[in-house]
Amino acid sequence: MKRCFAMMFALGLAVCPVLAQTVIPKPVSLAPMTTENGQPAKPLTLTWGQTVGGDSRFADAFQTLRETLAPASGIWLKVSEQNPTFRFEYDEKQPQEGYALSVTEKGAVIRAASGAGAFYAIQTLRQLLPPAIFGAAPVRAKWEIPAVSIQDAPRYAWRGLMLDPARNFIPVEEIKRQIDAMAAHKLNVLHWHLTDDQGWRIEIKRYPRLTAVGGGRPGTPRPFNRLTLDGEPQAPRFYTQAQVREVVAYAASRFVTVVPEIEMPGHAVAAIRAYPELACAQNPNLTPNWGVLKEIFCAGNPKTYELLEGVLDEVVELFPSAYIHTGGDEAPKTRWNACPKCKAKMAELGCRNMHELQTRFTEHFARYLAKKGRNLIGWDEILEGGLPKGAAIMSWRGTAGGITAAKAGHKVVMTPKPYCYIDYKQQVPNDPYEYIPNNTPNPIWKTYELNPDAGLPDNAKPYILGLQGNLWSEYIRAPEDLQWKAWPRACAIAEIGWTPQSGRAWADFSRRLREGGAERLRKMGLHAAPITEPPAKKVGK
Ligand code: ACM
Ligand code: ZN
Repeated sequence: MKRCFAMMFALGLAVCPVLAQTVIPKPVSLAPMTTENGQPAKPLTLTWGQTVGGDSRFADAFQTLRETLAPASGIWLKVSEQNPTFRFEYDEKQPQEGYALSVTEKGAVIRAASGAGAFYAIQTLRQLLPPAIFGAAPVRAKWEIPAVSIQDAPRYAWRGLMLDPARNFIPVEEIKRQIDAMAAHKLNVLHWHLTDDQGWRIEIKRYPRLTAVGGGRPGTPRPFNRLTLDGEPQAPRFYTQAQVREVVAYAASRFVTVVPEIEMPGHAVAAIRAYPELACAQNPNLTPNWGVLKEIFCAGNPKTYELLEGVLDEVVELFPSAYIHTGGDEAPKTRWNACPKCKAKMAELGCRNMHELQTRFTEHFARYLAKKGRNLIGWDEILEGGLPKGAAIMSWRGTAGGITAAKAGHKVVMTPKPYCYIDYKQQVPNDPYEYIPNNTPNPIWKTYELNPDAGLPDNAKPYILGLQGNLWSEYIRAPEDLQWKAWPRACAIAEIGWTPQSGRAWADFSRRLREGGAERLRKMGLHAAPITEPPAKKVGK
């Protein structure tokens, strides 16, 4: 048995058997195994009595593989040290999150240097099987894994999806379903947008009004009319700290890190409804319309810092993530400009304008988090008053903010609109769901066009941590709607984050989605949108 690469060199490309594999994201290298005379090697067939074992450092992976294969195949692998069919070996040469996988008709060998690497090898194995393996109940199928040799590792460390339960609440069960789908596509960061104008969704023990008042609302802006609430008050909906712990642990066991976002100083109306003394104005307008609202936390009031530090104290206890997101986008300075307390703070800190005050405000919390061993990350507006020391940037208005920050040596996550805005219209025919009007359409092939490194000099590229799809929820009122908008566009995000730029091509990605990926999403219980193709290019123009 030889790797196909060797055959390709020896005999030319034509003899290499074409393997119509459909793994997403596409592995760095995947070669079909061939026999001595160049024929495709026989696949490994999953049957009763097969075993899993190997280095005991991968005991969790043995269990994950068993639980991955059993529901649809009905086959429970036994754990065994005696020549296991699926063998996990520790290999310190494997890259972080990377793995090597080789499959022959006799068995599979997985080599990794980390639990994450072993987990991702299992995700690849699963995708090499027929999509029916993703089903929740036993079905009859030919459970064959093609004989292949794979060497794989991610392009980026941050491969994210942002979910927004603040605008419309997302139940824990749906969050877990999204984590399952993310993990299956090797996405590894769930950015949880827990607070916004329309809802504060995380229990904070020291400030119970944040959820008791801020978790509910007097009404919801009617779709396509940002100025009128529907007159249907909503009772508070939020995640208890026990639920947060449950989600964080569920995600961790699937190698997904949950990064919480606590928005400040803007998008804070829910918090200000709970504690109106934190607004600059005496009579703040606290109507939770969509869009960019004027009321923001007063930057000159010591109580703002006290409350937000108290919130972060509890947040860092709940979330072990290296990064804590503190928002920072769309914070109009109308109120700060008219506020004696903010003006005094600006003078005290020697700021020339209110953008610089926002930079100082952000630096305050970056220092606070640093004392707790955490890094602050914020939306790209936080660099309008100069780059806040110690802050990482999430570049959403385009890539320019991220490029500036990376060139200055700050860490960056690229989430530029429209590519990463997977709440934007996706141009599927007869789409039954509503979208924010007037946004640039972002069909899946548009998302796939993004190269997070584009426009960066080589010495700034290492500062790009990765990318993330953002799913804002103003118009998402049911899990099916969320799933439709997220998938399959999140598959494109996953492939951009994992596969080297030189290994990506739309036509091949689209084929893998059509021939396997879409069915896998369905089997996972996701109401995914259909795939669309870019308009054909006119030849000669
Ligand atoms: C954003 O979309 N306002 C980050
Ligand atoms: Zn103020």
